[in-house]
Amino acid sequence: MKKILITGATGQIGTELTPALRNKFGNENVFAIGHKRRPDPNLHASGPYYSLDIRDCHGLETIVAAHDVDTIIHLASLLSATAETQPQQAWDINMNGLTNVLEISRRQQCAVFFPSSIAAFGPTTPSDNTPQDTIQRPNTMYGITKVSGELLCDYYYQRFGVDTRGVRFPGLISYKAIPGGGTTDYAVHIFYAALREQHYVCYLRPDTRLDMMYMPDAIAAIMQIMESDTTALAHRNGFNITAMSFTPEQLAYEIKKLIPEFTITYTVDPVRQAIADSWPRHMDDSVARAEWRWAPQYDLAAMVREMLDSLS
Ligand code: SER
Repeated sequence: MKKILITGATGQIGTELTPALRNKFGNENVFAIGHKRRPDPNLHASGPYYSLDIRDCHGLETIVAAHDVDTIIHLASLLSATAETQPQQAWDINMNGLTNVLEISRRQQCAVFFPSSIAAFGPTTPSDNTPQDTIQRPNTMYGITKVSGELLCDYYYQRFGVDTRGVRFPGLISYKAIPGGGTTDYAVHIFYAALREQHYVCYLRPDTRLDMMYMPDAIAAIMQIMESDTTALAHRNGFNITAMSFTPEQLAYEIKKLIPEFTITYTVDPVRQAIADSWPRHMDDSVARAEWRWAPQYDLAAMVREMLDSLS
């Protein structure tokens, strides 16, 4: 990685990944692409920024070629809950965006990072200790684009030698950018509500267990897999990675230890509950630990402490 382009740079991951990569590789070597969301002023001021729809293949290739980009971190996509409200649009953005990135990478010889998700699994997948290689029959449009993306990335590596790599992210928790349109967003919103109102109304049932990760671990994962020795990788795309797995009830209990007045109630949203119910409760990430030494730093208690400290 020397010259890196990040799509979806204004999103939850991109807002933290862009400065981290700029620190490491130099501001002028990290090209941020955003579209709908207004960029954080620092993102705009600290290095090159372009506003572009990811479906604009020509526009994207012009930027890649002009700056001799060698790595594309492709984060632009619609998340799970939004994708259920506009499935055709989600297919268009998520799949045509990825196809453009892969084709450009084939022509311009770039490496590609593609984030898959716990959503690449479905109701027939074993939901406890979900293995790396198992049944993947997702029943959400977001999940369908993620499993298709994993396959397409494998295909571009095998057929054209494009250096594709990727992980299956769980729900990501951060205080720098609010996620938009995901099913796991409650685990971020709850902190704002706890600090402002000491109360949160959760849209998932109290016992809905899902894998989660604090953002610094997610950023470290992207850097680590992109810098790992590919000869040691038996898998390339869709590595299971997780850092913790909890229910809304357990997260609320942990927050209550630091904000004793905090209370939580539940008004279940059937759409997001159905999505969550189709996902694993806990993934087995031992293959990532073995192949590229994945090792998260934050557990539930450490994450809650840092989220509350940072937001208050
Ligand atoms: N956080 C994502 C979502 O909820 C899962 O990849 O859609």
